Amino acid sequence: MQTFNTVKALQDALSSARNNNSNLTVGLVPTMGALHEGHLSLIQRAKKECDLVVVSVFVNPIQFNNQEDLAKYPRTVEADCEKLASVDTDFVLIPSVEEMYPEPVKEVYHFGQIEEVMEGPQRPGHFSGVAVVVRRLFDIVQPQKAYFGEKDFQQIAIIKNLLEQIKYPIELVPCPIVRADDGLALSSRNMRLSPAARQVAPTIYATLKKAVEMSQTKSVEEVKQWTLDTLKAFQAPDGTIINPETYRIFDPEYFEIVNDTTLQPIKEWNEAQGVVGCITVWLTGVRLIDMIRFR
Ligand code: PAF
Repeated sequence: MQTFNTVKALQDALSSARNNNSNLTVGLVPTMGALHEGHLSLIQRAKKECDLVVVSVFVNPIQFNNQEDLAKYPRTVEADCEKLASVDTDFVLIPSVEEMYPEPVKEVYHFGQIEEVMEGPQRPGHFSGVAVVVRRLFDIVQPQKAYFGEKDFQQIAIIKNLLEQIKYPIELVPCPIVRADDGLALSSRNMRLSPAARQVAPTIYATLKKAVEMSQTKSVEEVKQWTLDTLKAFQAPDGTIINPETYRIFDPEYFEIVNDTTLQPIKEWNEAQGVVGCITVWLTGVRLIDMIRFR
């Protein structure tokens, strides 16, 4: 594994790899570090499908609309490098903010209706910030394929739309969520959960699974409301993790049942061929995201 801190050093190494093999297929796995099995599954998939895999580790400041969230984002570079080596990553780019953004960023991307729902209104500017960094990484690495996890379902739709806007011939490869044995979707943010919060966190996915069962007999609105109400009413054996502001353990920010392509909320189950439920829940100050497929 070769690690690079500058764009130029990575590009030089990519050029010589391409000079040695003119048909070289390059896979890109963009990450913000604090790596877990979910990230490693993307790299393993990329290793199977590409000749050379580039992983970026960069906490992208311009996609955070909340400075506290940026400051608290876990940074574990040494452990990340060990994990990256364990799955035989070829090249790793770990740039500074100045290296990625030598000039102030002026680009702004718009994504129409797919950014007007769910994460969009909650995190103004977030998806434009994601698009800026992902495009920069595409320009630097010029991969044939790029790998993203389906936990951030809306982000995948945004990157798909970005690729249409910029017309880059890059194949986007969405990869399934990896879950802990108890069902919690793996996320870098999970490491911020206290042991008590971590113990109850799988309730989110357990509730989503019940929502899918209920969808056999209940309307979209009933399932949506039941999911939100169930999480809000959840009582844990250990009262110490109650949020003092709301007296709740789980504070759902949204739960939307949407068309999996347009991301627009549906009213009837048969309104779309593919239907997913996307949820964001606060648990003791940690913002957790999950999703489930209804059909
Ligand atoms: O999903 C993430 O970790 C980030 O949004 C990404 C795609 C690496 C861009 O910073």
